[in-house]
Amino acid sequence: MGRVDLIGGGPGPADLMTVRAHRLLMAADVVVADRLGPFEELRDELAPHVEVIDVGKRPGDHPVPQHEINALLVERALSGFRVVRLKGGDPFVLGRGGEEVLACEAAGVPVTVTPGVSSAISVPQAAGIPVTHRGVASAVHIVNGHGDLSSGALASLDDPTVTTVVLMGVAALPRLVAAAAAHHVSGETPVAIVENGHTERQRTIRSTIRDVVEDAAAAQVVNPAVIVIGEVARAGLLLPTTAMIAESMT
Ligand SMILES: C[S@@+](CC[C@H](N)C(=O)[O-])C[C@H]1O[C@@H](n2cnc3c(N)ncnc32)[C@H](O)[C@@H]1O
Repeated sequence: MGRVDLIGGGPGPADLMTVRAHRLLMAADVVVADRLGPFEELRDELAPHVEVIDVGKRPGDHPVPQHEINALLVERALSGFRVVRLKGGDPFVLGRGGEEVLACEAAGVPVTVTPGVSSAISVPQAAGIPVTHRGVASAVHIVNGHGDLSSGALASLDDPTVTTVVLMGVAALPRLVAAAAAHHVSGETPVAIVENGHTERQRTIRSTIRDVVEDAAAAQVVNPAVIVIGEVARAGLLLPTTAMIAESMT
């Protein structure tokens, strides 16, 4: 019997992956990798015998359905292999890691989970945006942009002490903004869109709820991007050098 290790790869750079995740990756016989995360940087470190399976999903393009990924993990582990499932960010933050754990458990396959640095927090950080900041925001609400805004998400948007972080939200931005407007969320609420966080292509677009759809279209925002809505997204909250220091580390 083999095993499955789900590991979080962090937002992109290999040195933002945990030491444990890296150790498990180097011990793998089979690596099932996502598109986002550090895999391309690490691929050459793997031993030649390691089987690499790319199941990366791009928006609108889902090459391997989740149930097939689950079956793949189980099948390779039941064949006696050490399988690493490398996921972007953290496996349990909008990453469907829980479903993969359940599939392994149902098949009697030993499974572990190693956390990762989630883009929900680390991508705003890369742009100098703290998702909480004393006296400004004391809570964070993480939203999947693919779904409709729940009453909880609308309440967060309406609460100036809560930061709303939207993942997978680029295509859904007009719909999300319309829902916020229908809920009478202030049009002046600051919004920051951070594209390709922690990479050389990182870019930040600052706007407001009122203008963000137009500003995002004008800037031709692309995936992957994290949308931060709330007072912490206001330009100049921290010293302007903060983002520059973060970006120069990549
Ligand atoms: C399927 S979700 C996975 C989230 C992941 N489990 C995590 O904890 O970061 C993918 C979304 O994460 C965000 N994302 C991940 N890496 C990113 C990066 N380097 N820059 C900007 N957004 C990123 C984007 O919103 C993207 O659409």
